[in-house]
Amino acid sequence: MGLDHSAALLKTPAADVRGATISLQNVSKRYATLRGDPVLALDKVSLDIGAGEFVSIVGPSGCGKSTLMTLIAGLVSKTSGRILVDGLDVQGPIRGAGVVFQKDVLMEWRNVLRNVLLPVEVRGLEKASHLAKAQDLLRSVGLSGFEERYPAELSGGMRQRVSICRALVQNPALLLMDEPFGALDALTREQMATDLQKMWMRERSTVVFITHSIEEAVLLSDRVVVMSSRPGQIADILEIDMPRPRGAEARKDPRFVASVDAIRRHFMALGILSES
Ligand SMILES: Nc1ncnc2c1ncn2[C@@H]1O[C@H](COP(=O)(O)OP(=O)(O)OP(=O)(O)O)[C@@H](O)[C@H]1O
Ligand SMILES: [Mg+2]
Repeated sequence: MGLDHSAALLKTPAADVRGATISLQNVSKRYATLRGDPVLALDKVSLDIGAGEFVSIVGPSGCGKSTLMTLIAGLVSKTSGRILVDGLDVQGPIRGAGVVFQKDVLMEWRNVLRNVLLPVEVRGLEKASHLAKAQDLLRSVGLSGFEERYPAELSGGMRQRVSICRALVQNPALLLMDEPFGALDALTREQMATDLQKMWMRERSTVVFITHSIEEAVLLSDRVVVMSSRPGQIADILEIDMPRPRGAEARKDPRFVASVDAIRRHFMALGILSES
């Protein structure tokens, strides 16, 4: 048995391929407005994301970024196409992914700590180690001492940080984050991006990260997916080939500057940005 075990260990991929894989194949999503008019939010989107990859999605407001994320999470149903997570067809809510929604969905009747521990309770995971993890996470986002507070007593940025801790508490192999830093002040935002990068370098979970910040996308990602206006389609995918950790110096790297510039030019072509 000892031998078998070590053989299995040898075959185990390095820690850098821990995450889940995602495959979107010709995925379209059509909503109906309250009046019943059709809205084509996504039009035949295809994208493959590898295990342990950090992929950001940028695009104009209303282009279908949140829709794409909720489709991967299995929280809304696609109109057509295929969505696979770890090779399995997504038919309903997927288990075990950490999700940060654009608008935080904290449970107002649970205190901060019990909000963070919600996925642990739902999945019946071991309590003691996760309690320690939850407390660590809260400390790392500057919320020690707030464990017993209720969401109504927190600022928007604090609520968002609680949501991020909740998504991370179970060490998910897949992290889906929709504008997770949107409600944070600029300094906290920069620090949280640095911390997320560190966490990702340690855990190598697969991350799908939606952001309105081109710089943030380039700084954090292996690839940046640029979407066009509704109906959302993929306009371009940029590989960000820069060593990590990427700190303040990385922002001056010619590769960083060129990637940011290329994405800006896309947005200019789409009429979302104009030259000053
Ligand atoms: N439940 C819904 N019913 C009808 N239309 C919807 C629904 N959800 C989204 N839409 C429409 O689908 C399109 C894409 O919405 P989505 O929220 O995915 O965009 P987004 O890229 O995340 O935008 P933002 O950057 O503003 O968050 C929008 O035109 C929106 O009005
Ligand atoms: Mg959105």
